[in-house]
Amino acid sequence: MTDLVPGHGPTDSDLATTGDPIVDPGLPEHLPRPTDVDPHAEKRAERQVAGFFGGSIVLVLLFVVSYFAFDVGDNPDTFLGIGSSTLFLGLTLGGALLFIGIGAIQWSRKLMNDQEIVEQRHPARSSEEDREVTLAALQAGIDDSGIARRPLIRNTLLGALGALGLVAIVPLRDLGPLPGRTLYKTVWREGMRVCNDVSGAPLKPEWIEIGQLVNAEPEIFYNGEPYGQETITGHEQLVAKTKAAIIVVRMEPGDITPAKGREDWGVDGILAYSKICTHVGCPISLWEQQTHHLLCPCHQSTFALADNGKVIFGPAARALPQLPLAVDDEGYLIATSDFTEPVGPSFWERG
Ligand code: FES
Repeated sequence: MTDLVPGHGPTDSDLATTGDPIVDPGLPEHLPRPTDVDPHAEKRAERQVAGFFGGSIVLVLLFVVSYFAFDVGDNPDTFLGIGSSTLFLGLTLGGALLFIGIGAIQWSRKLMNDQEIVEQRHPARSSEEDREVTLAALQAGIDDSGIARRPLIRNTLLGALGALGLVAIVPLRDLGPLPGRTLYKTVWREGMRVCNDVSGAPLKPEWIEIGQLVNAEPEIFYNGEPYGQETITGHEQLVAKTKAAIIVVRMEPGDITPAKGREDWGVDGILAYSKICTHVGCPISLWEQQTHHLLCPCHQSTFALADNGKVIFGPAARALPQLPLAVDDEGYLIATSDFTEPVGPSFWERG
């Protein structure tokens, strides 16, 4: 075999000609660093390292100054649109830590002892003997603790550790009150008029043509008086609207196949459904007049409105809830009850 150059392994041609296994090439020749042989370079490096550590001290002092210098009250100081206190505290503390890190690296690279050592690898798994010794020590610890003989202590300890879980659970209260049954109800109720959601005007069946879709809302958003309560407005209205929004469509009555019990939920081919997709809650109103399909623009769930709002395509797992309709004494469309099932995404009601 050809002689190996120190610091270099055998070449492909070496192996091809000899077929010998690769030999340990050893360490490359040790070359002294400039700081090992030049006292001036050593001094320079020393000053450099000290400079980084000194810079870190200065930055810490600036951190303290920043803490007291900037106003963080109702009218906080800003710099480039950012809170001055936050900005300068972050910069000075980050810089101080960075300088310590750089100084330490430079110290070890340039000035600490440059001795190269070799450490042989060994299997990560402990020897059988070590494993047995460890297991024996573990068992001895268990025996010494008497945990097997003292169920009272063991059980109270487990209870104490379990009780610590409350620390994670109790603060969940800060998320707000439990929703209770509010997710099951909307503001629709028997006798409430159906209003156009743009004009706010109550709808009459004869104003809706076959094939037409109207976005609609309960009258209580426009007039609460007939229902013996205040008109719902403001934030409360926004919350209520997200659940009560409906679409009203008119089809040929002969095209509709109502499910058992829903035969009288429509008026002359006019049906009302929740506008909230049962997949993840997008508002829906892409209406195909010819097929009587309603498409959700978010993930293409498709609902057959002539067939009780059934899902015929897409990820939605539940039919669109239908609002039962009738006509009042003055000929306006009204709901005959609230929805009979929860509206919106179905995940929270499963099971
Ligand atoms: S939200 Fe309607 S399909 Fe996903």
